[in-house]
Amino acid sequence: MNDLLLRACRRESVERPPVWMMRQAGRCLPEYRVLRAKASFLTLLTDPALATEATLLPVNRLGVDAAILFSDILVIPRAMGMELRVEEGVGPWFPAPLRSAADLERLRDPVPEEELAFVLQAIGHTRRALEGGVPLIGFAGGPWTLASYMIEGRGSQTFSQAKRLLVENPALAHALLARLAATVGRFLRAQVTAGAQVLQIFESSAGALGPSDFRAFSLPYLSASVRLAREQGGDTPVIVFAPGAGWALEEVARETGADVVGIDWRTDGEEARRRLAPFEVAAQGNFDPSWLYAPPEIIQTRVREMLRAFEGPGYVANLGHGILPDTPVEHVQTFVEAVKRNGGSFLSR
Ligand code: CP3
Repeated sequence: MNDLLLRACRRESVERPPVWMMRQAGRCLPEYRVLRAKASFLTLLTDPALATEATLLPVNRLGVDAAILFSDILVIPRAMGMELRVEEGVGPWFPAPLRSAADLERLRDPVPEEELAFVLQAIGHTRRALEGGVPLIGFAGGPWTLASYMIEGRGSQTFSQAKRLLVENPALAHALLARLAATVGRFLRAQVTAGAQVLQIFESSAGALGPSDFRAFSLPYLSASVRLAREQGGDTPVIVFAPGAGWALEEVARETGADVVGIDWRTDGEEARRRLAPFEVAAQGNFDPSWLYAPPEIIQTRVREMLRAFEGPGYVANLGHGILPDTPVEHVQTFVEAVKRNGGSFLSR
């Protein structure tokens, strides 16, 4: 098996850094668009055979060193009882957002093996289909990120409704976050049992919070999720990615106990590496996805700059945010090949 990712997460020596891309299993691939012409996004998510097919597309097409399960962070709120709708061209949304204590009381605490069985089955299918080729990454949204979508009902620039709830009713916010952390932890643990070999938590709404709110409403619940995921989860590496909270890398490393800290594209790679050096963690990131629009030679130059910035063991090459859907697939290929070709030269230190 190609175990570069597993070794890099444990900061063991590797021939070159592993490379994969956040949101690799999606719309930048023509094969994905073919799948989507036949089935809706919700059908792909909930049908284990189709989810497996979508998971394998980037592995076969791009030669990445890891598969990430084709799924979505919003399967948790759906499993808690919130109706999830997907509008073509817009994305997923909740027609009845969570706004009150009564709304929270109506939600259930899902048992992953029941309400989320389709995800666990997709993991089993995918592991068999991968035949040990590359490791499979399971994932979940961070509690604050899930809460922000549940309260807003959809994605938002400012997350003003969600932040308003933190300000006006912090007790309700904490009650929601505690339930989400327990569910996220249980779900991640179930994914490991089903066959996930690495876990990533996407705290994608981290950047909506200022430092004191991040410390109050995000960090403790991320930590609880990681702790719960680890119970009986053995030594499965955990990646925590909190884009927009680059100022807090040290706290994320120390408080969450993550094995790998994701670095977003807004954060300087070399500086991130220096700041994380005192902690026993690996780093993942942080190519600016919009620079995948650049011609191949420029992508190659920028990849070499990234590899130099993150030089040394304990590094996973990735983007600093999810891939943009209209990225030319040849450019994505250039990115992967550039890491593979040049990665070996940046391992001293
Ligand atoms: O990394 C992967 O390829 C694995 C699959 C994956 C998806 N979503 C599939 C998807 C992962 C890891 C996610 C995470 C996710 N989902 C996040 C956190 C990371 C991030 O990128 O910010 C968030 C906030 C969501 C919620 C979500 N799902 C939104 C806001 C949207 C609409 C906007 C968008 O990015 O497309 C989605 C849809 C979605 N999730 C698609 C895919 C492949 C597109 C569905 C389609 O139209 O075919």
